[in-house]
Amino acid sequence: MDLHTFIDEYVRTFVQRYQSVAKPNGGAREKSLAPHLLKGAYADLSQRYRMADAYANGFQNIPEMIAYVQARFPATYAVVDHILKTELVPHLNVDPKNMYSVDTILDLGAGPGTATFAALQHFDVSHVTMVEQTIPLLQSATTVFRQNFPKTTYVDISDSLYKVIFPTVDLVLLSYVLTEMPESKALSVYEASLKATTKFNLMILPGTPAAFRLLLNLRALAIDKGYTIMAPCPHAKVCPLSVKEDAVDEWCHFRKRLDRIGFHQDIKQGSLGYEDEPYCYLLVANPAVVYEQGDDARVIQSPQKRSGHVLVDVCASSGVIEERCVSKKNKSAYVQAKRLKWGDLLVI
Ligand SMILES: C[S@@+](CC[C@H](N)C(=O)[O-])C[C@H]1O[C@@H](n2cnc3c(N)ncnc32)[C@H](O)[C@@H]1O
Repeated sequence: MDLHTFIDEYVRTFVQRYQSVAKPNGGAREKSLAPHLLKGAYADLSQRYRMADAYANGFQNIPEMIAYVQARFPATYAVVDHILKTELVPHLNVDPKNMYSVDTILDLGAGPGTATFAALQHFDVSHVTMVEQTIPLLQSATTVFRQNFPKTTYVDISDSLYKVIFPTVDLVLLSYVLTEMPESKALSVYEASLKATTKFNLMILPGTPAAFRLLLNLRALAIDKGYTIMAPCPHAKVCPLSVKEDAVDEWCHFRKRLDRIGFHQDIKQGSLGYEDEPYCYLLVANPAVVYEQGDDARVIQSPQKRSGHVLVDVCASSGVIEERCVSKKNKSAYVQAKRLKWGDLLVI
């Protein structure tokens, strides 16, 4: 099932469910909310996010929830999908001991189930647990998942992440949630999520300097608890961007480009047919999973293609930022470097 069909179905399910709740005698009407209402709701929600007090209020009404799904699901899905596809799925193909298979998932702050939907595209999952405080989002997500991925079983927990005792699972997903709470809470939720991780823990934050500062503390916690960093860092040393003196405008983040089509373009009201979603992330493994970091380096800026050479800024496995110059004379490296994009691994 493709993304846009899923979101259409999700929104229809959501609207049916909540119109019938709101108007018990009127029955469920298969009708979307008026576009101007959704655009207004999205403008209100974005304004609160810009003022960084979104977590104090959460979603304030049903149009805000639907607007969130239409405006944000495509981008957050694209980011989760990209990270799983590039950083986890390739291991599945060279995994004789079956260590990288993912059978069970825990999606924390699941919202409309975005990260779960991405993971279901890549793994043969038998069981999903989603924890989310906004009940309408959670219930609609579970309904649509049950209809479209019937081989998987689902448990939805509509409660606060601060209260729930997490079950242990193969893959824990924390997609765009830890910036929605005070830092002390984010640290304790993340620590509990690590304890629940038997294999992999993927945490994604918005690609802002403030989120990166939080990520540095979460990364330190994961290292302290003995988890192995798989991506994006090619090492577990001190992050070189955290100590760089001129790093005010430099923070470790990446961008995922995605097309805006249909309802997504309508609600964003932009003139461009695409958007670039900035994000920071950390993928770690339980120490029981055998993972050996090579000498690969992470590309942390768009490579500059010049005549006869490519300049690539990387975070190296030695724990320093380097500018690598890959010359045409080194044919195989040059072919690789010409294809490299910001966020890729420069394989040595
Ligand atoms: C920005 S949304 C991200 C949703 C989804 N993970 C995604 O990537 O699209 C953050 C979600 O976390 C939920 N959330 C935030 N704080 C929470 C808490 N303390 N307990 C449970 N859910 C929480 C919000 O209700 C919201 O649905």
